[in-house]
Formats: sequence, structure tokens, C-alpha cells
Amino acid sequence: MTTSIVIFGASGDLTRRKLVPALYNLFRKDRLPDDCHIVGVARSAFSHEAFRDQMRAGVEKYSGDTLDDTIWMQFVSRLWYIQGDAAQPDELRRVAQFLEEREQGHGSRLYYLSVAPALYEPIITNIGGLDMDSERSGWCRIVVEKPFGTDLESARALNRLIHSVFDEDQIYRIDHYLGKETAQNILFFRFANTIFEPVWNRNYVDHVQITVAETVDVGHRAEYYDQSGVLRDMFQNHLLQLLALVAMEPPASFTAAALRSEKVKLFSAIRPVNLDNTVRAQYDGYCQVEGVAPDSQTPTFAALKLYIDNWRWQGVPFYLRSGKQLAAKTSEISVVFHCPPLMMFNLPEDGTFTSNTISLCLQPDEGIHLKFEAKVPDSISETRTVDMEFHYRTSFGEREIPEAYERLLLDALNGDASLFTRSDEVETMWSIMDPILRGWNLPDAPPLTTYAPGSWGPPEADALLFRGGHAWQSGCDDHD
Ligand code: BG6
Repeated sequence: MTTSIVIFGASGDLTRRKLVPALYNLFRKDRLPDDCHIVGVARSAFSHEAFRDQMRAGVEKYSGDTLDDTIWMQFVSRLWYIQGDAAQPDELRRVAQFLEEREQGHGSRLYYLSVAPALYEPIITNIGGLDMDSERSGWCRIVVEKPFGTDLESARALNRLIHSVFDEDQIYRIDHYLGKETAQNILFFRFANTIFEPVWNRNYVDHVQITVAETVDVGHRAEYYDQSGVLRDMFQNHLLQLLALVAMEPPASFTAAALRSEKVKLFSAIRPVNLDNTVRAQYDGYCQVEGVAPDSQTPTFAALKLYIDNWRWQGVPFYLRSGKQLAAKTSEISVVFHCPPLMMFNLPEDGTFTSNTISLCLQPDEGIHLKFEAKVPDSISETRTVDMEFHYRTSFGEREIPEAYERLLLDALNGDASLFTRSDEVETMWSIMDPILRGWNLPDAPPLTTYAPGSWGPPEADALLFRGGHAWQSGCDDHD
């Protein structure tokens, strides 16, 4: 049985930087199906050879491992390129013929849409029109990259369109944050241990902070980004998914259906966000970036405070922030616990007291930190915050964390949709973000402020927490 992986938009960055390096690594680990072909499709004029050379450069740079020539030669013999505009039925037909020749009546297909969202509709329609979605001779699945719509209405329309050709169980909406080992580990941390879950609720947790900070600017994606902004680019997908993993109830089983239903339940319990609990800002100099409108109002940073109206989390604030051009690249979640009801010891000399905090460090220094109080030696009753640390690199070795796309491609090939977003899930996520996006256009919305590149965002983001008696913290600093 032949398996074909067809990448639409193969001349794009994602293919070279992520998809092909991930497929190469899977091949190297002997995890790809035996008779597997990878077919890149794009409008650019490349020969098979030129495409292969470009992909080799990508693998050398991004696979995270030294390229092994023998393995590469075996891998590359499965890599093909077809020049064509998949939005044109006649050109897509050539792809269909190429696949049919290889499959000889027995083949499964994984389509990967790595194209501009405007091309989703014609390509999906053509796949249906040419009967390329048929499962007569094997399975057929489609992976859809983000952004999945630009608001609730467009996400619904996109779901309707895809469902007109594919069944829901053939559709894999990707969110690469779910492919990160450290994101997957959140559920293992919570539900493969007994000591954390009993305190993982409003009785013990004071508040939760989720930070996804980036040092990079918008770079060559300025045009896309200026239309999108940080809420669509990061919050609607990555930050909400992290929130779900940290806050959801245990699923009935570790299956795609149960996991995703539990997430939808969590998203449905999020109280509409009060605009006064939102901050939006743009880094100084953003409007001068090529591709950005000179008077752009697009936020490159946002911070939100939200509440989850359920028994576990009633009254516990969740603070989310993300932005470009910030002081450090870090993705982390800190669960901050209540202070002891009575403090019988002396506070540290500087008068500050750190509540117990569990920090889940997603990147770059993957691990988990638990901050707690200890008695300062040779003092009578002085406490100091100390840090109990787990690092992936020391427990599992430097190279044990695969790239997110490896896991996601493998799961899609194996038919496991646990780490992909279901149609109702993506719509519920949009229904949380839509009112904020709309509200920000209203005259009484919190104004767009600015922040200095290299900072932690605008002072308003600090004030958002200060009002609740909190402060942003980095729980993932290495104290070794
Ligand atoms: C993407 C966003 O989904 O995630 C980018 O479109 C962002 O703007 C990227 O830079 C961040 O991913 P990571 O894995 O580097 O944290």
C-alpha cells in the first residue's frame, strides 16, 4: 500500500523549515510508512532536482541533526515536485495522475495545505471535484494550517466548505503548540501524578499566568501579520490551547474524542472577557516595517485577564500575554498558589513573599519549576524562596525533544487527531476572541499603546495584574 504525502504550497518557508525536516527525521527513525512518497506542489518552476536540493539545505539547517548522506539518498528518492496551480482543476489533475500512477489502485493520501488561506477554497473544491478525497483504495486525510479563519463567521464558513468534501474525521486542523512535547506533558504532569491534581483548583490556586513571548519582529510575514495581529496569530490558537491543557477536567479517556470534548467544555465555560481586562500595544517602529501600513493599528502585544465559570476555577484569574519584540523568547505557564493563611515566620529581608508556584516551562529551557519557601540556614525564622527544578535536558538528554511537526505529521499519518483542533473547538475558540476583536474597534475600547522593543510590553500590562494584587513573573529562570 502506497502512502502519499502531498504538500500544497511546497515552495513556501514552512515546507523547507519544518515539514520536510520533520519528515526526514521520521524517515531516519523508521517511522514513515514503508512505501511512502512526498510530493511537493507549488506554482514556482522547480525541477525535481532543484526542489530536492532546496529541501536538502532545509534539512541540513533545520532538522536538528547532522545530515546523514546515505539516509538522505534513500529519503530523497521519495521526494517529488510537481509545478502547478492546485487552484486550477486542470493543473491539479496532473497531481492526481501522478499519484494514481504510483498508487496503482492501492493508496492512502495525506494532503497538507500550506498555502495562503485564500487558496483553501479552490483547492479543497478541486480535490472534491476530481474525486481526490475518495477513500476507496485507502484512507484520505487533510491537514489544514492556521490561520483557520479570521473570525467566528469565517471559521464557520471554512468548516462548511471543508465538510462539503471531507468528513470531520478526515480533517486535521493543526496547532503546532499541541505538537510540542512540553505542551503534551501538561496533561501527563496533571493526570499521571497524584500530588498535584488535588490542589489544582480554586481552593489552592490564586491565579494562573500564561506567557508566550517572542524576541523576533514580524519580519517577512509583515503583510499577513498586519491583517492579523497578535490576538488572531497567537491567542485564538496557541494561548487558548495552553489554557485548555492547564485548566481542563480529566478526559474520560486519552482519545481524540474525549480530549477534544473536554477542551470544548472548558472553552464554553470562559466568561466573556471584559474589555477593561484587555491590553493591546504595538512595538515602537512597527509601522516602519516593510509591508505594514504606516498608520497601522494592529497590536503586536496583548494581555488579557479572563475567568472560567466552572466549579474548579470560579473566581481564579487567568492572565495571558504574548507579543513580538519582547525581552526574551519564552513560553511558560505559572500556577501561583495562595499564601499560607497565617505567616508565623519572618518575611525575607526585602519584604517580598513569593507564593508557591509551579511553572511549566515550554521553551526554551524545557522543564518544570516548583518554588517554595525554605528556612534560611543559621537564621531563627527567616524564609527564602527556593526552586525545585526538572529539566528535560538533564533527565532525558539534550536531543530527546522532537520538533512539534514530527509528532503532528506522524499522528496525522497514524490517524490520531488528539493533537488537532475539532470543528466545534475552533469555533468555540473564535467565539472567545471575536467579542474582543470587535470591541477593540469601538470608541470606548482601551487604547492601543506602544512599548519599547526589548521590553516586557507596555506598563498597562503590568497594571492589569497590579490591580488584582499580582505581578508577572518568570518562573522558568534557571537557578542552577
Ligand atoms: C506561529 C505564529 O503560529 O507561531 C508566529 O504565526 C509565531 O507569529 C510562532 O512566531 C511561534 O511559534 P514558536 O514555536 O516559535 O513559539
